Amino acid sequence: MTENVLVLDFGSQYTQLIARKVRELKVYCEIKPFSLSAEKIEKIAPKALILSGGPASVREEKRPYPDKKIFELGIPILGICYGMQIIADCFGGKVAAGFSLRTQPTTRRVHQPKEGEGFGYHTREYGRTKLHVIKKSELFLNLPEAMIVWMSHGDSVTVLPKGFVNLAKSEGITCAAFVNKEKKIYGVQFHPEVAHTPNGKKILANFLFRVAKCSPTWTMASFIKEKTEEIRNKVGKERVICALSGGVDSTVLCALLKRAIGNQLIAVFVNNGVLRKDEPEKIVNRFKHIFNLRYVNAETHFLSRLKGIVDPEKKRRVIGNEFIRIFEKEAKKIGHIKFLAQGTLYPDVIESRSPWGGPSATIKTHHNVGGLPRRMRFELIEPLKELFKDEVRVLGKELRLPGNIVHRQPFPGPGLAVRIIGDVTKERLRILKEADAILLDEIRKANLYRKLWQSFAVLLPVKTVGVMGDQRTYEAVIALRAVYSSDAMTADWADLPHKILSRISNRIINEVKGVNRVVYDISSKPPSTIEWE
Ligand code: XMP
Repeated sequence: MTENVLVLDFGSQYTQLIARKVRELKVYCEIKPFSLSAEKIEKIAPKALILSGGPASVREEKRPYPDKKIFELGIPILGICYGMQIIADCFGGKVAAGFSLRTQPTTRRVHQPKEGEGFGYHTREYGRTKLHVIKKSELFLNLPEAMIVWMSHGDSVTVLPKGFVNLAKSEGITCAAFVNKEKKIYGVQFHPEVAHTPNGKKILANFLFRVAKCSPTWTMASFIKEKTEEIRNKVGKERVICALSGGVDSTVLCALLKRAIGNQLIAVFVNNGVLRKDEPEKIVNRFKHIFNLRYVNAETHFLSRLKGIVDPEKKRRVIGNEFIRIFEKEAKKIGHIKFLAQGTLYPDVIESRSPWGGPSATIKTHHNVGGLPRRMRFELIEPLKELFKDEVRVLGKELRLPGNIVHRQPFPGPGLAVRIIGDVTKERLRILKEADAILLDEIRKANLYRKLWQSFAVLLPVKTVGVMGDQRTYEAVIALRAVYSSDAMTADWADLPHKILSRISNRIINEVKGVNRVVYDISSKPPSTIEWE
């Protein structure tokens, strides 16, 4: 069985990052709610527990609190930020609100406090901070005595809990890390999981390998072996159906299933008419020899359904519902199929069970094939549901998929329909497809395709005046969008070289009939979103 580390989630924005960093160190890691009982944890028998940070304050009455018995299981524990403070609280230490830097007393008592004794100073700290290691420990082994770490806290530990020793101080707080050596419980006030803590990965590695004695054995090769066996056992001689879109997730999913069960996998590719230029032909030609592939050309059907719809959410609903109907019809034609495979990823799983209860406000409903299983009585197979997006790419490489598939930029399920602002007509689709193809061509030529999270064109519902030759024109506007991101939760607009922007603009205006103006979108997410609709 794979060795396992559990991250107990207290709601930090970095929780997923902790899990990713642990997996990068080749230790399998899962995120669980902070309230998971000691009994359940004991059954899972993880090699270590990491308590995440979180937005609450230990001093609040309604703070998220773990099952105290987890500290009696003998499992090594690392508390990060709030995680450290909750450890302090559970063991009788004190956590207090920090002074702001301005009101902090000017004379700092810098001394080594003993157990139960209050610390001299504690200020709030946000951003890069210098950490000073004041006592040797396995956590900071082979690391410098002074280093930069990332802090983001108001509260801090002001009285050491019983049985704990202070390991480090920072410019603002006297206790920035502590340990109970006997129980193998560590706490750090800073965030080792973020890139702004340059030695963070080494600190996590020290915890995993020196304190918790994990072994770095989790690799994609081992994942493939485990998953293919699991799929074979579950599927037996039955058939599995899967929607292939040509995107990274569904292609990797199909490749994994193919490796496990060969032609018992039936891949269905539906052309919904709002795919990029020449995309349906490319997908069919690329995959028809690889997968047991069924192609459904529903282009005219989708376009007739989309006619006159301008509301973005309505477009999504129509495309989502029609997709389900067509997929369902195709499945019926094939006959008895027991399983449906879906490319659900780990972030989808975590988001749907956030410890903070209620779902956050719906900004956009993302339609993939989420509605399928409820309507059709398939049994579900979701072999990617433990993986992050970048891990899916690594898996794709390990499955020998070519780089141009593994590194494809994400493309939304409702496709170009949410990039044509206003009515989706055949003519407007032609304009956008051509403009988008030019943009992608230039981005690839400039070697920028893989660096960008997404780059695409948007067709606006306005016409503007231009002059071509000696003629007045009154034509459409194309907006260009290119962003950097690591997870699509946030994104920065890409400062593309002016030369490339200029080339894209010239080509679009010269080559695409019906466009006389190109603009560049310089908004980041938040407050904007990546797609325009
Ligand atoms: P936004 O526009 O919300 O997009 O910043 C975040 C990421 O999600 C993609 N996206 C979608 N994907 N169905 C999808 O499968 C959708 O309805 C949808 N809307 C947005 C978007 O391309 C970006 O990568």
